[in-house]
Amino acid sequence: MGLEEIGPLRERALSLIRAAKDLAALEAVRVEWLGRKAGRITALLKSIPTVAADERARFGQAVNDLKSAVTEHLAARRAALEAAAPRGPMADVTMPGRRPPLGRLHPITRATREMVEIFGRLGFEVVEGLEVEDEWHNFVGLNIPPEHPARDPLDNYYLKDRVLLRTQTSTVQVRVMEKRKPPVRIIAPGRVYRPDTVDASHSNMFHQLEGLWVEQGVTFADLKGVLAMFARAFFGPQVRTRFQPSYFPFTEPSAEMYVSCLLCGGEGCPACKRKGWMEILGCGMVDPNVFEAVGYDPDQVTGFAFGMGIDRQAMLKYAIHDIRLFFENDVRFLRQF
Ligand code: DAH
Repeated sequence: MGLEEIGPLRERALSLIRAAKDLAALEAVRVEWLGRKAGRITALLKSIPTVAADERARFGQAVNDLKSAVTEHLAARRAALEAAAPRGPMADVTMPGRRPPLGRLHPITRATREMVEIFGRLGFEVVEGLEVEDEWHNFVGLNIPPEHPARDPLDNYYLKDRVLLRTQTSTVQVRVMEKRKPPVRIIAPGRVYRPDTVDASHSNMFHQLEGLWVEQGVTFADLKGVLAMFARAFFGPQVRTRFQPSYFPFTEPSAEMYVSCLLCGGEGCPACKRKGWMEILGCGMVDPNVFEAVGYDPDQVTGFAFGMGIDRQAMLKYAIHDIRLFFENDVRFLRQF
């Protein structure tokens, strides 16, 4: 191979590089010219020592120049082809976006908010108490004497002497009346704790909503009016209510309120044990002993109180058969609300 052939070779190589349509074609050109075993330029480089001594230096220089030119053009063409190549499949910009999963309110939260809203219409203010309580607020101030079965240490979570997890939101009645002068019109939703064996209708932690209205001239008729209105607003206008005498240490007289069965409407079915009625809360006129414990004058004011299980109302309203579902955090249950 002589020096004069290098020029045409260069033209040939560069035109092949320009003509390469894609990276694969370009790679084929590279192998043909610069391949380590059989590349045409590689062969020229290997032949340098065989060239006549007086021509060797110029020939070697020309071959090396050729190699540089081809290498440079290959790199430039590769860069151009890569820049033009589409990267992976094109995005379909008309496709709808992916919705991020949206959380929702827990059914207990929903029920609580609904109750707060209903009582809010009647002017009840929301108050929070404490979950860790003393015996005074959980029992003594509520007229529950030491020998009362509710004070059995086995029926309470005592944390230390005279300090326990509250078993009822009635504690908030005492806390509020100790701090404020009448009139008082409050509700207090919150958690309560009892060492019950857990089953479909019992949990050792559940929720109650307490209510208290104290003012001059409040009567049992007000109690009935407020609670009947609540039942219709919460469960539906078709619901009928019934009050049955009962006993609580902190109210006198005391009653339990029933609503007509939400499933059968009062006919009698398995859900209401064929009675047609379901008990939903305890209530009554505040006992004078409670007023005296908090420094109110029972001759000046009267009042009524009530307490209901929020979990229980939510179970009735949403037809949930097992209280444990509320606390298992299974999204298959929770996303139904
Ligand atoms: N504290 C009672 C309980 O845990 C419920 C209750 C009954 C609350 C009558 C009241 C009431 O305020 O007047 O079962």
